[in-house]
Amino acid sequence: EKGGYDHFMLKEIFEQPQTIFDSLRGRLDAKQGTLTLGGIRGEYEDMLKNAKRIIMVACGTSWHAGLIAEYVIEELCRIPVEVEYASEFRYRNPVIGEGDVIIAISQSGETADTLVAIEAAKKKGAIILGVCNVVGSSIARLSHAGAYTHAGPEIGVASTKAFTAQLAVLNMIALKIAKDRGTITDQRYQYLLNELDAISDKVATALKLSDSIAAIAAKYKDARDFLYLGRGYNFPVALEGALKLKEISYIHAEGYPAAEMKHGPIALVDEHLPVVFVATKDSYYEKIVSNIQEIKARKGKVIAVVTEGDETIRGLADDVIVVPEADELVAPILSVIPMQLLAYHVGVQKGYDVDKPRNLAKSVTVE
Ligand code: M6R
Repeated sequence: EKGGYDHFMLKEIFEQPQTIFDSLRGRLDAKQGTLTLGGIRGEYEDMLKNAKRIIMVACGTSWHAGLIAEYVIEELCRIPVEVEYASEFRYRNPVIGEGDVIIAISQSGETADTLVAIEAAKKKGAIILGVCNVVGSSIARLSHAGAYTHAGPEIGVASTKAFTAQLAVLNMIALKIAKDRGTITDQRYQYLLNELDAISDKVATALKLSDSIAAIAAKYKDARDFLYLGRGYNFPVALEGALKLKEISYIHAEGYPAAEMKHGPIALVDEHLPVVFVATKDSYYEKIVSNIQEIKARKGKVIAVVTEGDETIRGLADDVIVVPEADELVAPILSVIPMQLLAYHVGVQKGYDVDKPRNLAKSVTVE
């Protein structure tokens, strides 16, 4: 059942090259330069193209996927995007108007907070697009249109393959809107189709790091707290890394935008604090190098996820995890892999049941 793996979580982490491929299959054709999303057609295609605002509604890991999509959609489509915790959105009488499109992101499609939030928004006349993994789930059925993530059943309580599939689908949605609106050049469109098409092979390469990440986990598994930092597209990846560690290893972890660190969290830094930097080569790179120096100056331990060929951070960090190069818009699909593996190995080494962490349920069906 676990396909030879010790845990569903590990199996699902390792399935990602295939599940990402599956979520792109039949939709993205890099050779032809085309993108088709069968579940978003006709009037809904037009509504999305002409959206005045897009609101992402989700919880947990799915909310992190929404945060990344916010950056991607704003960059490519020039449509303002808001990302809402479903529970907060629901109960604060949100302003929803004509031209607003809601994207509900949910692996299970049964998360109560997300479900009631979109029910309420639908009553107010909002258009709902569902990005769900479970076919025929409540959120999928309630949505006007949408795109399934096709990651296959996710058994581990910690979401892994559903997250990367969500990112793949949200990237396709962003590229489609950008193309329809004419906010992207043909050249960049084709380039990003190629980058997305190439990402599952790079994920396969990153998975080979599992043993070396297990060794890093062994070094830091007794830490009381972890800090996770990233900027730009990798900021939500830092949040996701911290969430994974909390869930699976019961170590307190916080994710922050790297620059925000100096507005408070830096007070926590001493020689006992491991700080995980998601620092792949992107337009924020120089800035994050300075943030790493700030942590080292305070004797924090730095574990950095970097791009192949990076020598600068290698010279600064205590441990580096090297992943292939990828465009910054698709990079989170890759940079989250070491986050998942680190949490997994720490949890296993601490002797916990990583598939069923305490106090957690696979789908949270209470508000
Ligand atoms: O099924 P959903 O995507 O709606 O679930 C949302 C969250 O409950 C979920 O992502 C949760 O945070 C996971 N345990 C994260 O690993």
